[in-house]
Amino acid sequence: MESFKNRLDKNRIPKHVAVIMDGNGRWAEKHGKARVFGHESGVESVRSVVESAGEIGIKHLTLYAFSTENWERPKSEVEALMELLVHAIDNESELLMKNNVRLSAIGDLSKMPSKVKERLDGCIRFLSGNTGLNLILALSYSSKWEIINAVKNIAKDSVERKINPEMINNELFENYLNTAEIPDPELLIRTSGEFRISNFLLWQIAYAELYFTEKLWPDFRKEDLFEAVFDFQNRERRFGKISEQLTL
Ligand code: IPE
Ligand code: IPE
Ligand code: MG
Repeated sequence: MESFKNRLDKNRIPKHVAVIMDGNGRWAEKHGKARVFGHESGVESVRSVVESAGEIGIKHLTLYAFSTENWERPKSEVEALMELLVHAIDNESELLMKNNVRLSAIGDLSKMPSKVKERLDGCIRFLSGNTGLNLILALSYSSKWEIINAVKNIAKDSVERKINPEMINNELFENYLNTAEIPDPELLIRTSGEFRISNFLLWQIAYAELYFTEKLWPDFRKEDLFEAVFDFQNRERRFGKISEQLTL
């Protein structure tokens, strides 16, 4: 069968795709290995998805790599994930540079071990002049944390009279989120057959198309991303209107 890539409408590529990369543990179990082996294999999927997103002209790709809730996992798994992050940043930065990828991060980065934070900051700086895909890693991220953080800062700026509460609207609020300046994702993908959002980008996905696949994250490859975008392009996004209004 022809690749989904060739069947895509180049004029309707989503600007921002967000991915909940789930199923590493189950993938490892299926292969009779320890969970960490699944996380390691997931790095290969990240590489594929970053490349394929760049190939079809997606501008922003947000990957949910570690949630606030994931800190509650067994200490050994958390440590392994942090180690893996350090290695992934070290190993992938040259390729990201070659592919003209820019990097940024959202989440409570102050919670990250200093070794990860240093590598991450270094890599963000290293890639900051690039003009291609903006890769956004969600690390120690939870949407409720992000929203509460925004509310706190809005309250603070109100008390300090930098803003007037009357000014608070969608646009102002969005400027206080970690994703300020980044358009909302039009497409959200979750792998591993779970039908939930797990505290990811709750505000930003208000009108996103949701795409769920049974594939476990380490099995997810370029063609899977193209298929998700193809599926997205075959949906009617009405934004509350009726079909007939959309062609006007
Ligand atoms: C996703 O895979 C990676 C992270 C949450 C860090 P999981 O580790 O959640 O894998 P499953 O869901 O247990 O299979
Ligand atoms: C969501 O996956 C977080 C990431 C993919 C980083 P989880 O595996 O942590 O989510 P739940 O526990 O199934 O909701
Ligand atoms: Mg999971």
